[in-house]
Amino acid sequence: MRRPFLVANWKMQKGRAAALAFARAFLPRLADDLETEVAIAPPFVALDALGRALAGSPVALAAQNVHPESQGAFTGEIAPAMLVEAGCSYAIVGHSERRVLFGEQSAFVADKVAALLAHDIAPIVCVGESLEAREAGRSFEVIGAQLEESLATLPPARAAVLVMAYEPRWAIGTGRTATPGQAQEVHAMIRARLVERFGAAGDAIRIQYGGSVKPDNVAALLAEPDIDGALVGGASLEPESFAALLQQSGGPR
Ligand code: 13P
Repeated sequence: MRRPFLVANWKMQKGRAAALAFARAFLPRLADDLETEVAIAPPFVALDALGRALAGSPVALAAQNVHPESQGAFTGEIAPAMLVEAGCSYAIVGHSERRVLFGEQSAFVADKVAALLAHDIAPIVCVGESLEAREAGRSFEVIGAQLEESLATLPPARAAVLVMAYEPRWAIGTGRTATPGQAQEVHAMIRARLVERFGAAGDAIRIQYGGSVKPDNVAALLAEPDIDGALVGGASLEPESFAALLQQSGGPR
């Protein structure tokens, strides 16, 4: 059984004050018997304050990125132990904005996965193809390669902590969502690769969909057999809309 998992990826939005205001408005909206797991990934500078505000609530804290080294001369970067200290249980790695805008390669993502595992932070590993790749019929090839290379450092014994996210680049922030059928087709391929690689553990790994997920399309996406949650940008920024997403996301599957 895979418990649905929604993650708010705030990207470069909301500093400390805005993150705290969100928590104040959002936490009272949560049901006591929350069936969906939920986490928020704020900018680094808001992690500490938001982590304190979320303490005692069912909402977990996630980072948007991490550097694989434990310390040193890496200006502007954040080490895994710093995320542990801030209270993170998850970290997003390999987001397409990191891959496209900052040139991150899958081998670097694999180093981050290894570093996170060493600190008991669960990686949320993102994969996704460009519009050009999709139109050229190369979606599976591109996503398959990203998956194999990004997970190269993940030993089968640790596979249970992994979360995957499929984010078609053409659907991020564009208002253009993959149809549930289009997303499921890719999720099924990812599932098959995970099972091939990790055996039964691959079947328990949650695969989130990301790309213009909204309260009015999340239920149809999650109704697909291999879509186990969502990685949400725009619709996670307002407490009302993220709470509505949670309400629509259903229970254990
Ligand atoms: P949007 O929900 O704004 O399309 O962003 C998706 C995303 O990139 C989440 O990581």
